Amino acid sequence: MADGQGGSVARKMLVASQNPGKAREIARILVDWEVLSLADVDPVEFPEEGGDYAENARTKALVAAKATGVPSIADDSGLEVAALGGAPGPYSARYGGPGLDDRGRYEALLDALCDAPTPRGARFYCVAACAWPDGSSVIADGECPGEILIGPRGEGGFGYDPVFQPEGFDRAMAEMSREEKDAISHRGRALAALAPLIHSHLVG
Ligand code: IMP
Repeated sequence: MADGQGGSVARKMLVASQNPGKAREIARILVDWEVLSLADVDPVEFPEEGGDYAENARTKALVAAKATGVPSIADDSGLEVAALGGAPGPYSARYGGPGLDDRGRYEALLDALCDAPTPRGARFYCVAACAWPDGSSVIADGECPGEILIGPRGEGGFGYDPVFQPEGFDRAMAEMSREEKDAISHRGRALAALAPLIHSHLVG
């Protein structure tokens, strides 16, 4: 944002995510902003997620923006596997039951798919929302098609990245650099689509 004196002033944006992997990714894509995390603000109480992606993303962003007075970005995302009828979808963070970590969840997914023929088509899907303290908001979505691998590969990313291979690549998402993932990921695409909507909202 221009400061009228030839310089620029970063505007504040809160990344309203309790998932450290997602928060890191959103923060590194928001290069034009002074990014705050939930650790920088008073505790925000989020309601249980129970809606569709768009409702969940918008609710998280609105709750954070109203509680803190800072414009906030949140996303809701998930992995949709064709052989499982689109599951786990919005329930991806809870797949396989309580008490599992990322590895436990992708192992449960591989177990569920052990008899499914390859390639096991899937996509990551993301809805990103930006909300302002006055209750206004904008949303956009993005997807990343691909397939579920037979076994995990790579150390990068988070969540199901070790078992997901994006279309057009011969590596798991967890084997890609951050820049490669941001350029093709569902979250990178949703945030790229959100940026002009935020800009339009700011300039009126
Ligand atoms: P939620 O949006 O907080 O409901 O969580 C989405 C869940 O989907 C995450 O906890 C991950 O399990 C999964 N997920 C979403 N995006 C990604 C990604 O970029 N890589 C791997 N897993 C993801």
